[in-house]
Amino acid sequence: MSAAAPGGIAAAAEPLADLNDNVSGYSAADYTADSWASFSSQGAAANGLVMVRGLKSLVADYKTRSAGKYTGDSWAPFAKALNTAADVAADASATASEVAAAKTALVTAADNLTAADEGTFQTITNNVFWNDTSGNPIYSQGGGVFKFGDTYYWYGVHYTGAEYYRANPTRKYDGDVSFVSIPVYSSKDLVNWKFENRVATRSTGVGSGATMGGAGWVGRLGVSYNENTGKYVLAVQMWHTGRGGHGVLLLQGDSPTDTFDYGYFQTQITNSPTTGTGDQTVFTDDDGKDYLIFSNREGRSRGFVAKFRESDSLRIEPGVEIRRGDGREGNAMFKLDGKYYHAASDLHGWNTSVNYVNESTSSNVQGSYSSEYVLAGTEMDYSHVTQTGFFVTVKGTKQNTVIYAGDRWADFAWNGIGYNQWVPITKTGARPQFHSMSQWQFNITTGEWRVGPANNYILNPDIQADRIIVSSVRGWRNLGGSVTNVNGGANGSRFALQVSNSGGVEQRIASVPAGTYTLSLHARGSAGQVVITGSNGSQRTLSIPSSSGWAKRELTGIALPSGAATVTVRASGSGGVIVDQLSLVKTSPDTPPPPGRYEAEAAPAVCQGTIDTNHAGFSGTGFCNGTNAAGAYAQFTVNASAAGTATLGIRFANGASAARAANLVVNGSTVGTVSFEVTGAWTTWVTKTVTVPLNAGGNTIRLDPTAADGLPNVDYLDVSVGAA
Ligand code: GCU
Ligand code: CA
Repeated sequence: MSAAAPGGIAAAAEPLADLNDNVSGYSAADYTADSWASFSSQGAAANGLVMVRGLKSLVADYKTRSAGKYTGDSWAPFAKALNTAADVAADASATASEVAAAKTALVTAADNLTAADEGTFQTITNNVFWNDTSGNPIYSQGGGVFKFGDTYYWYGVHYTGAEYYRANPTRKYDGDVSFVSIPVYSSKDLVNWKFENRVATRSTGVGSGATMGGAGWVGRLGVSYNENTGKYVLAVQMWHTGRGGHGVLLLQGDSPTDTFDYGYFQTQITNSPTTGTGDQTVFTDDDGKDYLIFSNREGRSRGFVAKFRESDSLRIEPGVEIRRGDGREGNAMFKLDGKYYHAASDLHGWNTSVNYVNESTSSNVQGSYSSEYVLAGTEMDYSHVTQTGFFVTVKGTKQNTVIYAGDRWADFAWNGIGYNQWVPITKTGARPQFHSMSQWQFNITTGEWRVGPANNYILNPDIQADRIIVSSVRGWRNLGGSVTNVNGGANGSRFALQVSNSGGVEQRIASVPAGTYTLSLHARGSAGQVVITGSNGSQRTLSIPSSSGWAKRELTGIALPSGAATVTVRASGSGGVIVDQLSLVKTSPDTPPPPGRYEAEAAPAVCQGTIDTNHAGFSGTGFCNGTNAAGAYAQFTVNASAAGTATLGIRFANGASAARAANLVVNGSTVGTVSFEVTGAWTTWVTKTVTVPLNAGGNTIRLDPTAADGLPNVDYLDVSVGAA
């Protein structure tokens, strides 16, 4: 195309392309290609031009938004408008009205975006005693958590043995199951529990002038809200010779935290071969209907799902049998992604067990179920050393998570009573997966969970999952020699692991995040060693010298890549090395920073102000809050492999109402200015890109504010050399 420049354009020496792209204050990049072509070639009036600059910059700006920050409902129309706008901006023949319409639609959709509430993560620590929000012990065994309104209520049994166990956790208390009360706690996040009331006590009447204090056994309970009476009905397993033996006690209250009164005592549930129940829980379905999940008392070979009487919930309707086979107890139900799962344990007399699951094969909770299979993740340590207790289903904005609440009873392994162990269950592929962890974090809003910072990655670390002496210890694979658990563990605990005759055991940990770890254990007896192997084959060895008494051994600074890791315990000779309380805990952050990232809080960076942490979303351990003054700078010392132009990504937040300006000073010379626009909130962090010349080797880069309001908050500097 040989374009004749419109009048007033001199620069005949300019190359043709430049002439065509820049005409008397007009720039080709700002207009659609078709309108520019006719304008520049024919010298047509400027009003024939179709301006797309505004639309392009809007599209570029909005493309930095990420779906996860907004609700799915508001994101979908926005994403559509953004695509349309990008298409229109790139369309050579778009008309001015199409451009205007795309811009309006995009701005409207962006205004309508609803930020998703990200919630907060709270920490759940297992293997420790839990307290309520007043600092008093939580005593709640074999009950359930029920959501009424926006609040979760946790009911369970307080046994005297729980108090004794808590005071002295190194012996068994299985005989001490005398009933104290049924407390109720409330929570909004399933982590912090406020004591509300004792809904039942020893003096609560159970009909015929008898009281709960006279019962031979009280346990396994749950609550059903009845829409017809407006009452909350507590179904409790009870054995009371004054009331005809075994049965289900139905108490009722006017609120979830009321003091409940006697409703009915039902000894026989139709279709169950015996009176009472084996074990039982209450399951609330999505439609609010409640079911008693139970096994028959004798033998426990049948699993049932029974409705509560619709009129008042004060009777259990005939049971519908959903499974038959080996005896199972701890019967409980959960629903995850549309399927019902009946879970139960071995008949172990209050001991630990895998979870056996029957999965629904129809959409009917009382319909047919698959034959049972072992819930993945419960084999390694017998369900985090528990028996099935109950489940809580949480529907989050991002995912559904079921919380498994396990019962750990004091019996053969001396491992607790009223000692709650909660872990998440998620769907992995077609089946649910149990995630055994000693510590994890849960977000009630989004439903997300993550491994806790103090999690011990070793399963069955205290050798207490096996209730009896065995020659193959749960979670540990024999590598020859002699292996057994032995009586007399560290710190007064029941069991320890003994490896002798030059033998060994190993545990393969399915996955650890990359990081630095500390391995520790208690050991006594003959010499041995513990080897930890990372997924890349790297190995570190902890030598265990012989010792007649228990001694703690520790290996720190173990670098592990992400992936599987293996812990191996070996005896050095024929003698036995005895180990207990093994632990593998991560001591460094998960993800190493990307190369070229310089955190504002990390030396040799300088912050003329304070390193703060009060506005979430920063990376590393803090950000630079510069003093609000001209000249109060943030400075980074960065390294360049070669001299040249470098691209800087400056991550900052400006929650103030006006942009903040700074000089960009490299190695003492001002090379440019940068304006840090308003980001809307101090927690909204954005990255600004600029280019600067760098020398090979070390360079100082200073953000030097030019006005009295100083710098925005500065998080880090990303430096990539040669990428400009
Ligand atoms: C607020 C904000 C600080 C910020 C300061 C400022 O005080 O919390 O993080 O640095 O404003 O205006 O600079
Ligand atoms: Ca400041």
